[in-house]
Amino acid sequence: MVDLEYYQDKICIVTGGNSGIGYALCEELLKRGAVVYMAGRDPEKVKKSAEQLSDYGNQIKTLIMDVTDEKQVKDAVEDTTVRKGRLDFLFNNAGIFKPPCSLKLPPWKTGDS
Ligand SMILES: NC(=O)c1ccc[n+]([C@@H]2O[C@H](COP(=O)([O-])OP(=O)(O)OC[C@H]3O[C@@H](n4cnc5c(N)ncnc54)[C@H](OP(=O)(O)O)[C@@H]3O)[C@@H](O)[C@H]2O)c1
Repeated sequence: MVDLEYYQDKICIVTGGNSGIGYALCEELLKRGAVVYMAGRDPEKVKKSAEQLSDYGNQIKTLIMDVTDEKQVKDAVEDTTVRKGRLDFLFNNAGIFKPPCSLKLPPWKTGDS
């Protein structure tokens, strides 16, 4: 059984929270009473997306950080923890895809002669 009150007053950070799955997660957490730090790398996008959730008042907050920048992540997490006294959840949603190698296959694997 899902405990709908589980996230009540929990302090959460959602990386890549300004769009897609991250945005939907922010909204769902807000509905469940959490305090949500919508984190993203583009200040304008984050501001705009957070404004769409302004009905949640002080529950919605923003954080600017690029998850590929270790210092920005460390500072953002530390600041949040100090400001709120704790951090309950960090949802590491922001996606980074770097192909590890060329996806071109040699002819003998593609059937080309
Ligand atoms: N959608 C799917 O079917 C699917 C399937 C499997 C896994 N996933 C994973 O689920 C996650 C979310 O997917 P999605 O479909 O919601 O993707 P999306 O709509 O492209 O959203 C990705 C979010 O991550 C942010 N982001 C990307 N790189 C970032 C960085 N370096 N620092 C901070 N934020 C960054 C983007 O910010 P900007 O707006 O600034 O670009 C955007 O807000 C990803 O990790 C993805 O790999 C998705």
